[in-house]
Amino acid sequence: MASPPPSSLLTALLLLFSTASLITPSQSQSATCTRQSFTNNKRYTFCNDLPSLNSFLHWDFNSAQSTLSLAFTATPPNPDGWVSWALNPTATGMAGSQALVAFKQPGGAMAVKTYNITSYAPLKESKVWFDVKDSSAEASSGGAVTLFATVVLPEKGRTVLNHVWQVGGSVAGGVPAKHEFQPANLNAKGSLDLLKGHSSTSTDGDSKLKKRNIHGVLNVVSWGIMFPTGIVTARYLRVFPSADPAWFYLHVSCQVSAYAIGVAGWGTGLKLGSESKSITYSVHRNIGITLFVFATLQVFALLLRPKKDHKYRVYWNVYHHGVGYSVAVLGIINVFKGLEILQPDPKWKRAYIIVIASLGGIALLLEAFTWVVVLKRKKAGKSANSYEGYNNGHTRQEP
Ligand SMILES: *[C@@H]1O[C@H](CO)[C@@H](O)[C@H](O)[C@H]1NC(C)=O
Repeated sequence: MASPPPSSLLTALLLLFSTASLITPSQSQSATCTRQSFTNNKRYTFCNDLPSLNSFLHWDFNSAQSTLSLAFTATPPNPDGWVSWALNPTATGMAGSQALVAFKQPGGAMAVKTYNITSYAPLKESKVWFDVKDSSAEASSGGAVTLFATVVLPEKGRTVLNHVWQVGGSVAGGVPAKHEFQPANLNAKGSLDLLKGHSSTSTDGDSKLKKRNIHGVLNVVSWGIMFPTGIVTARYLRVFPSADPAWFYLHVSCQVSAYAIGVAGWGTGLKLGSESKSITYSVHRNIGITLFVFATLQVFALLLRPKKDHKYRVYWNVYHHGVGYSVAVLGIINVFKGLEILQPDPKWKRAYIIVIASLGGIALLLEAFTWVVVLKRKKAGKSANSYEGYNNGHTRQEP
């Protein structure tokens, strides 16, 4: 006979796993303004974490000469894309901005060009409002591009300026192509106070971004991680007689907490949806609503559960498992949809993929292990009926 299954070890592993995944997404997003010097050994007095597109701006201002020296860092969606930083002397958005754009030249070297942007029409290299004394750009191995420039501002004494920044995924025929129109792209603007050293956005955009991030974290944790973890717990722990009824309480508490967090996240999503008048993310929204309905059904399923030996229990099982697996699949799909909309630093998507792939890996291992245990049990059961009590007590469907 097999030695007692290591169910406590498994429980501990799953708990550890879910706690670790709870902690990861809540770490601070901006590790950006910590850089001390650049490859050209230049140091800058100020650094602003810009509130959109994970970009930041190091800079110095010489008011006597009206020169602004800057290093703008951002990560284009792919290595053949572009990054841009601009001043807009006449308005707050893109139209009218005087842009510095860095991208790879046909030979592979990075270069900086200037554009007087008047509309969404294809760009044409041109002179801009300020003089550019020197400029260069470099790409880091991580994909971030830093654009260096020293510019002379034409209007002495004008020290509060509107700035705009942007990233784009491609360059066509030597011309930076259109960027995406996600909220992160559209919110990439603010004002820069050259004497006080700070960059600000309208608080509106700021608090909206905060709300979106809260929405993201709550939903990734609940729908994206806790629900699937709770399913894994139920499916694989109960194969061990010694984990009964612990698996049940573990499963219920995991799913009920996931539901509580998920409903909170869902509420923030509804709020964001009602505030976003110009853009509707219908697929993300519809999956979200379906998830809420399904998860609520699961809570009722818990209350309406027939006894283990009731003749309807088998139907209940089919229904509970069907809805449960749908929640897991839709939840994971919607996390990716949400990441597409929010466009956080790529490391968050990578982190989520790692978490969900590890959970998948653990589930696969446990699946194989369960098969072995169940087959062994069947063999043993034929000769000695040693696990009969267990098998009768459970309506577990074999894998
Ligand atoms: C940029 O283009 C606009 C429209 O063609 C023009 O009025 C403006 O003078 C240009 N700015 C510079 C600095 O060339």
